[in-house]
Amino acid sequence: MLGKGISASLMCVDFADTKKDLAALEKAKIEYLHFDIMDGAFVPNYTLGPWAVSSLRGKTPIAFDIHLMVERPESKISYFNLEPGDAVSVHAESTPHLQRVLAGLKDAGMAAGVALNPATPLTVLDYVTDVADFVLIMTVNPGYAGQKMVPNALEKISRTRDYLDAKGCADTAIQVDGNVSFENAVKMAAAGADNFVAGTAGLFRRDMSIEAAAARLRECIRIVK
Ligand code: DX5
Ligand code: ZN
Repeated sequence: MLGKGISASLMCVDFADTKKDLAALEKAKIEYLHFDIMDGAFVPNYTLGPWAVSSLRGKTPIAFDIHLMVERPESKISYFNLEPGDAVSVHAESTPHLQRVLAGLKDAGMAAGVALNPATPLTVLDYVTDVADFVLIMTVNPGYAGQKMVPNALEKISRTRDYLDAKGCADTAIQVDGNVSFENAVKMAAAGADNFVAGTAGLFRRDMSIEAAAARLRECIRIVK
């Protein structure tokens, strides 16, 4: 199960002072730490790797949410010291073995998520809704922070909600990732998003503290802690 709330995108953290940012995220009662894992192959960038997950494991009460933007995740999941209770999302576009990967994550006690790039149709979910705890709708093309939401993102979020409800998957959560700004968050929530990956647009901002941004973002998505 992926819970409602804010998932802080750690690729946007101040790596010169992670302790400061982590303390602020904890004070803001952020629900998840979102580890954007990139391999330079599935997406044109490198960011966090297994080191990031290991370095924070046991150092914070915030739950882990690991987004694998990697080719063939089935061959890389063992690189991470994943634990039951972690949320782990894999891209439908990154493996021919999506059902096997998701079922394996679920069997290991994790919340298994299917991530969809902007151009990927919902039909890829047809035979995995029984093993998917959540669907991650990329609202930007994966790879970089600071991008603008793609035009059809809001329509795709509401279509995903309708699709899941029509399949009897009312408990399957929708996570959105990319340009979750205050303005966009209101529309994303209205379209049916449950969990919001927040980076430079809505949480790690130059003009306000993490606590202030989190409070404002919660107002926008109506999840007040
Ligand atoms: C895309 C990244 C970004 C990041 C959020 O691959 O995953 O979505 O987390 O960054 P902003 O809020 O700057 O879009
Ligand atoms: Zn992500």
